[in-house]
Amino acid sequence: MFIVAIDGPAGTGKGTIAKLVAERLGLVNIDTGATYRCITLAMLKENVKIDETEKIKEILEKSKIEFKNENGEQLVFLNNEDVTKQIRSNDVNNMVSLVSSLKFVRYKMVDLQRSLAEGKDVIMEGRDIGTYVFPNADVKIYLDTTAEERARRRQKQNEEQGIKSTYEEVLKNIIARDENDKNKEMGALKIAEDAVVVDGTYDSIEKNTQKVIDIINEKKNTIINKKNASSSENQPKIIEKMKVTKKEPIFKVIQREILRTILWVIYKIVYRVKVIGKENVPKDGSFILCGNHVDFYKVPVIELFTTGRKRVYFMAKIELLKKPILRWFAYLFNVIPVKRGKNDMNAMKQSLQALNQGYILGIFPEGTTNGLSKKVKVKTGTAYMALRTGTKVLPVGMKVTKTNKIIVNIGKPLDYSSKKQKNPEKELLESTTKEIMDTIIMLTDTAK
Ligand code: DC
Repeated sequence: MFIVAIDGPAGTGKGTIAKLVAERLGLVNIDTGATYRCITLAMLKENVKIDETEKIKEILEKSKIEFKNENGEQLVFLNNEDVTKQIRSNDVNNMVSLVSSLKFVRYKMVDLQRSLAEGKDVIMEGRDIGTYVFPNADVKIYLDTTAEERARRRQKQNEEQGIKSTYEEVLKNIIARDENDKNKEMGALKIAEDAVVVDGTYDSIEKNTQKVIDIINEKKNTIINKKNASSSENQPKIIEKMKVTKKEPIFKVIQREILRTILWVIYKIVYRVKVIGKENVPKDGSFILCGNHVDFYKVPVIELFTTGRKRVYFMAKIELLKKPILRWFAYLFNVIPVKRGKNDMNAMKQSLQALNQGYILGIFPEGTTNGLSKKVKVKTGTAYMALRTGTKVLPVGMKVTKTNKIIVNIGKPLDYSSKKQKNPEKELLESTTKEIMDTIIMLTDTAK
């Protein structure tokens, strides 16, 4: 959810600018003035006067206000009727300011405005967006134009449309409207402390639109830079902590053992885990534990039910470290974070080190949940590791039955010691990957 609040007095061209910005930046445009106009229109249709509180409340209850995009045009619907034009009529113009001054109307409209923005990237235009509706908006703009300039523009429009008026009359109206907008008891027009004020007096709509777009883009860049800075600040620290070391802090071991026991009991009860082929697990020395990736929450099963209490280092995507709870899990259960799509030399080095120090290296070669059924191209990293070190691969097929029971089928270790080499060729990497994956598929299919 990204929110741009654009506030300012009437007649600044806010509406047109918001519409153009929305089109160009792919934001949803929400014209909050239109919501007050709809209620005013409904009151006019039912001949309800401004002091008929109960009747207005009834209207608020039964009015369904919607914005719809049709052929690039934004249309406003009131109770399924297209009222885009009607809400701009003179009758509505003359009454809407009063209606929007009623507190109970504002409460209801603000609720509606917030729900219209829910989960979307929006530009919301009005009077009190940055100060009240979305006080935490990502970008706040206050568009100002002198009353004289707005009066001059309006008078020109009137002349073009053949509406009789004088400049002085129009100016007087605008000043009165500004006063009313600024002095409302609730939802008064004012500049939010952290808003950027754009003076639209001397420039064209196009130029003012560009000013607004520049402000939004600048803010977006600042947000992105901040995010990058904080993740690159955090990650080296975590990765540093996650290095393969012989001696583990005692506190970490205790926490892991407690958690392991709790998880073991939970999985045993919830999934009634059954293990086949336990005798195939090598008694000592390092090996690569290789299984299929059923789903995220079932991943721990492979570690809890196959290797006993031996130390396993799991290769897992670095994105796992984003959430604090998963970061803690990853640390306790010795995850080696991998930057996918790149040749992550650090992850490779750590994995080889784990094997060289006699530990187990856990890999899910599919790289993603149910990768095999999604037909992902399995990467050759596992094969590379096995051929480079000559380590055995222990294939495991994990199956979830219709009754949600998990069967772990452990196969015989695949021995690559005779094929050990420093730089395995592409063909050998691919045929070895196929052999490992075929074995895992066979074990999954035959798990009963
Ligand atoms: O922007 P507009 O002219 O369509 O607004 C119609 C009326 O609604 C105007 O009197 C100001 C009022 N309004 C408001 O009080 N708060 C908003 N967020 C938007 C509009």
